[in-house]
Amino acid sequence: MCPEQEPPECIDPERITEFLSQCSSSITRFGRDMVGIFAGEVEPDSIIYEVYELESIGNIRLAVTKLMPGKVGDEYYMTKGHYHEDPQSGEVYFGLKGRGLLIMQTKDGETGEIELDPGTIACIRPGWAHRSVNTGNEEFVFLAAFPREAGHDYSSIEEGGFLKRVVEVGGRPTLVPGQ
Ligand SMILES: [Fe+2]
Repeated sequence: MCPEQEPPECIDPERITEFLSQCSSSITRFGRDMVGIFAGEVEPDSIIYEVYELESIGNIRLAVTKLMPGKVGDEYYMTKGHYHEDPQSGEVYFGLKGRGLLIMQTKDGETGEIELDPGTIACIRPGWAHRSVNTGNEEFVFLAAFPREAGHDYSSIEEGGFLKRVVEVGGRPTLVPGQ
């Protein structure tokens, strides 16, 4: 939480690092929390990403994710990814810093992706799983807004994986089949 910023009236992308330094992360995912997520073997003590939950605005939850730069083998650092438990709950992402790729899929096998640069707004439709990937050389930071009742279903992804992975091929982020 960010006690002096409840709720933040605005988040200046230019000062996002300073803003987050006033917050305490609500989730830190280390490599050891990501076993089976990457195709390769991840270093257990590496911090992969941090999530900072901000004060809710009514029934809208706000979270800032800081995804570190790095790769496991040729696969870029990424979040675990999840479906929402509530099939009616969508989500909006807003790119703040760095460069990333938002990958999405449905349980029917549809896939989609959106490049997320600072200032980009990405809409995740209800029923779509979502995972973010840091495809740049610096921290990738984005704001997420989602309904309080959304809930997080991580287990479907832990069991079934994502249909696509994002790996470096010839120095460029490239989507390849996931399994
Ligand atoms: Fe979500």
